[in-house]
Amino acid sequence: MFSKETYIQRRLTLAKKLGSGIVLLPGNDESPMNYADNGYHFRQDSTFLYFFGVDFPSIVGIIDVDNQRQIIFGDDYTIDDIVWMGPQPTIADRAQEAGIIETRPLSKLHDFLTDAQKRGRDIHFLAPYRAETKLKLQSWLGLHPDELAAKASLPLTKAVISQREIKTAEEIAEIEKGVNLSVDMHVAAMQMVRPGLTEAQVAARVYEVALAADCELSFPIIATKNGQTLHNHYHGNVLKSGDLFLLDAGGESKMHYAGDLSSTFPVDTTFTAQQKLVYEMSLKAYDAAVATLAPGVPFREVHFAACRSIVLSMQELGLMKGDVEEALKAGAHALFMPCGTGHMMGLDVHDMENLGEVWVGYDGEQKSTQFGLKSLRFAKPLRPGHVFTIEPGIYFIPELMDKWQSEGLFNEFVNWSEVQKFRSFGGIRNEEDYMITETGACRVGKHKPMRVDEVEAIRKGN
Ligand code: GLY
Repeated sequence: MFSKETYIQRRLTLAKKLGSGIVLLPGNDESPMNYADNGYHFRQDSTFLYFFGVDFPSIVGIIDVDNQRQIIFGDDYTIDDIVWMGPQPTIADRAQEAGIIETRPLSKLHDFLTDAQKRGRDIHFLAPYRAETKLKLQSWLGLHPDELAAKASLPLTKAVISQREIKTAEEIAEIEKGVNLSVDMHVAAMQMVRPGLTEAQVAARVYEVALAADCELSFPIIATKNGQTLHNHYHGNVLKSGDLFLLDAGGESKMHYAGDLSSTFPVDTTFTAQQKLVYEMSLKAYDAAVATLAPGVPFREVHFAACRSIVLSMQELGLMKGDVEEALKAGAHALFMPCGTGHMMGLDVHDMENLGEVWVGYDGEQKSTQFGLKSLRFAKPLRPGHVFTIEPGIYFIPELMDKWQSEGLFNEFVNWSEVQKFRSFGGIRNEEDYMITETGACRVGKHKPMRVDEVEAIRKGN
């Protein structure tokens, strides 16, 4: 945990932003896999972590803005729990670490909230994303699970985003730990791939690096020879000479701040000439996006800098034609880049995505519905303290090519016969994490080998 002053200050700021009411922030529960004592890895709710820091299940934080009271509701472990799990700090001890002196058993929460409702007080809560949290909110507040998202507090949602989106120096230091761990995970994979291994064996090595550091993953590993499938969690293929391998993986720091990196490298020790060509095109798009980063620049422009670079490269290669800006406006580039160039990152790998992309990434502005652009999670102007990924890719997706070609789409921008020559190429993505400073931008964490000579050097064992 950070020092208690950090959490005290965060809660004070939140209270000031809201002005009145009661903030109800439930932590997450253990989640059983097949019976209660055989659970999935426990992950605390990120907003709860941000304001209360306590990384244990089944506790609830209350900020009573009007009465300047803060309470943690939770039950101490019984002797049966302690026999099962070993000695545990009390709820009061844990609350103290977050600067909270008032604690109460969970059984008192219902009465506390009912009393507040009777007095006509506003109870601010965030839209829940777990079934058990929905059921608890239903029992505490008498709201049907189907109406919870609509009844969630917009002032609280906006206030939380406004605080969590600007990372402080101590948060950046934690994110760096997550990113540095992620770099180690990627280098381990680059060192080990070879023909005959399965994707699962590489994924296992990547996970091992995180586990050996006593850390967890920030999201399920993508380790695939089919990099054209954006979120491919199938790991059953055997690698062979000539394949490209795409790894998208990240670790969390012990305090749950994420790293998120992608790498693409040959299963052989060198790229083929064609792989190198497209790989260099993807790096150009990456460099174009990074060159655009500055305070005040809308991230949408960063995205389009990458997409523009891809269109220009595709024109040089003979796969695209026509007016570049018109192609971008029409969305023709989404044939090769059907996703966004980046997303915010922090306590969640897609930071605060549970609070709604429209608020997190767009400040309430309507999102585009155009194919490709609709997947851009972050578009608003960059501010010092924003931390996000840069991850343009070049993907040859045969199903998308065939669909668009058969529908006669984008004939003025795409040379379909040339594009079809790449239908079995696969996909390439490189990704690193950046932050905006007062005067510009910088990479977060250590360097990940990414240039062709760096990658080939590792593949050759140098
Ligand atoms: N890197 C995984 C994701 O952005 O979803």
